[in-house]
Amino acid sequence: MTITAPPLSNVAVLTPGVYHPQDDSRLLIDAVEQHVVLEGRTVLDLCTGTGVVAIAAARLGAASVTAWDICPQAVHCSRTNAAAAGVTVEVVLGSWAVAVGRGRFDVVLANPPYVPVSPGLPPVDGPAQAWDAGHDGRLVIDPLCAAAPQLLTDGGTLFLVQSEFTGVDQSLAALTAAGLRASVVARQRIPFGPVLTSRSEWLERTGRTTIGCREEELTVIRADKR
Ligand SMILES: C[S@@+](CC[C@H](N)C(=O)[O-])C[C@H]1O[C@@H](n2cnc3c(N)ncnc32)[C@H](O)[C@@H]1O
Repeated sequence: MTITAPPLSNVAVLTPGVYHPQDDSRLLIDAVEQHVVLEGRTVLDLCTGTGVVAIAAARLGAASVTAWDICPQAVHCSRTNAAAAGVTVEVVLGSWAVAVGRGRFDVVLANPPYVPVSPGLPPVDGPAQAWDAGHDGRLVIDPLCAAAPQLLTDGGTLFLVQSEFTGVDQSLAALTAAGLRASVVARQRIPFGPVLTSRSEWLERTGRTTIGCREEELTVIRADKR
């Protein structure tokens, strides 16, 4: 995660404490634009934040867009942004996990928290809930990979963005184990933002990155339900 990307024009309102769209948001939207047709299809955006991905899906012609976020400020922000954009997005307050069993979708999109946290740090709370995801960064991604088939219609597709520091091969293996056909469809190297910069020594010490490296690779994974 970084803060180098220019703002995405999809969102009129950026609320303090709600994750501002960044390179990962943009990479996910670009991958969706390039790799799937949304016109006439049902879309679920998990972890919606400002609603930037959900609004993009609506603008790409999705038949319906449902979005979830666990943060009340994000829900308010994304509803405001969808209204300002003139698109219909149903935004639900709650954990993505509650969406499981409440319907299936043709396309599921997720930019979840995925940044690994040093075990010495206090539990995730407040704005860090948008990015911190346990010591391996997989607090949300592991259960999401396992539940993906229950969220998708037959022939449906999941797009998931994450960092190299969160184990891309682990996600591919987890999705394959869940019965999906998974592959990487987009990659981008970006400079460390403030969060990873503050953890760079820990990343080096634990072998997650090489000494002096201050870049991470973001990846978009596509997983299809046959
Ligand atoms: C990295 S931000 C992504 C926001 C937006 N989709 C984007 O691409 O800019 C992750 C979002 O996930 C939300 N979140 C964290 N844990 C969640 C959970 N268990 N269920 C739903 N949303 C969650 C956070 O509140 C935050 O808005």
